[in-house]
Amino acid sequence: MPGDKSISHRAAMIAALANGTSLIRNFSTSEDCAATLRCLEQLGVSIARKSDGLVIKGVGARGLRAPKEPLDCGNSGTTMRLLAGVLAGQDFETTLTGDESLRSRPMQRIIEPLGMMGAEIHSNDGRPPLTIRGRNPLRPIDYELLVSSAQVKSAILLAGLNARGQTKVTEQTPTRDHTERMLRWFGVTVEEGDAFKEGQTFAAVTGPASLTAREVLVPGDISSAAYFIAAAALLEGSLLETANVGLNPSRVAFLSVVKLSGLTVNFQDMREQCNEPVGIVRVEGPLTTKESTDTPLMINGERIAGLIDELPLLAVIGSQLVGGIEIRDARELRVKESDRIAATVAGLRAMNAEVEEFEDGLRVAGRTRLRGARIDSRGDHRIAMSFAVAGLLAEGETEIEDAECVSVSFPEFFELLESVVE
Ligand code: S3P
Repeated sequence: MPGDKSISHRAAMIAALANGTSLIRNFSTSEDCAATLRCLEQLGVSIARKSDGLVIKGVGARGLRAPKEPLDCGNSGTTMRLLAGVLAGQDFETTLTGDESLRSRPMQRIIEPLGMMGAEIHSNDGRPPLTIRGRNPLRPIDYELLVSSAQVKSAILLAGLNARGQTKVTEQTPTRDHTERMLRWFGVTVEEGDAFKEGQTFAAVTGPASLTAREVLVPGDISSAAYFIAAAALLEGSLLETANVGLNPSRVAFLSVVKLSGLTVNFQDMREQCNEPVGIVRVEGPLTTKESTDTPLMINGERIAGLIDELPLLAVIGSQLVGGIEIRDARELRVKESDRIAATVAGLRAMNAEVEEFEDGLRVAGRTRLRGARIDSRGDHRIAMSFAVAGLLAEGETEIEDAECVSVSFPEFFELLESVVE
């Protein structure tokens, strides 16, 4: 699998803030991560794309330069939200913008905490473009996340590098912790633990911090592997092994759910690589569902945060389970790259599945013989890839509109899929 997108964004930004030159190997090939690199270059960071990886000359935690033009984050929410955290602590003004989808996404969730830290942020009524007037040093804050979001947590921690004192983020449900792990890899002390309130956890950094350049080998992207794992799980006679894939506990909930539905998934050769767990995932298909249950597999509550990017794919898998699937408490899906609840419901219905839509999720009836159809991806990579998997299961031809959007996270997707499907 190509390098993990979430980890690559962090590796590039954190290397840019380090002192010294870092080498990042297996950097994500996604358009989202390319947008991060372009923004960093506009901020005065030198990046050389070599055959063995990216060579990033760090400028130090406070060393970015004011860009001449607004920064275009493309389709990438992670680029915009994490960079906002970085720019909050730089003593100049920057404008962050993006494509039509990104310009419709909610940013109040970062404007509020970064504003409390002393950055001045103007937006279009809580949406991009964002104009950030940074300040150094920032004020440290002790902040409880209102939305369960690794992007918001990361923005605050990255801003915390340029605050004077300890910045602490508390969350109700643990979200992916790649920022914490990458900061530690670059020599920053990150405190983590159980928060005062039952069930909550915190992460904290103390500024002003200084970071030391490192070599990073990015693990393969488990969220990209998920489409292959699902296809192998559902297609007769499959056997799939993906090596060097990231197995961070905050990202593998998808595998546990698929396992719960009766699939044989094994992890092998587990090891740590640059503070991230990696290993081999081995899947044998087809799915042998735990029969005799006609109640839908329920995915809700605290499980949602760890499955957020895989939910459309789980809905497709659910159409093949005896009892189907019900996903609730997933309102966040409506403000991703597209309204992923609406897009999944429409796609599955077009393929003959019985689906009920809720404001915060959906219910898909089980064991449906999917019918090939024309699917509107809404320019959303995860919708396009989820319905490519559905298309493999369906009778007849499936046509996915605007399928090139897969390059947002996984440009090699169709080529790789063709190479493993007979
Ligand atoms: C990401 C966090 C998630 C996820 C996105 C990548 C990250 O978003 O959906 O694809 O790299 O931190 P939220 O943190 O907004 O849930």
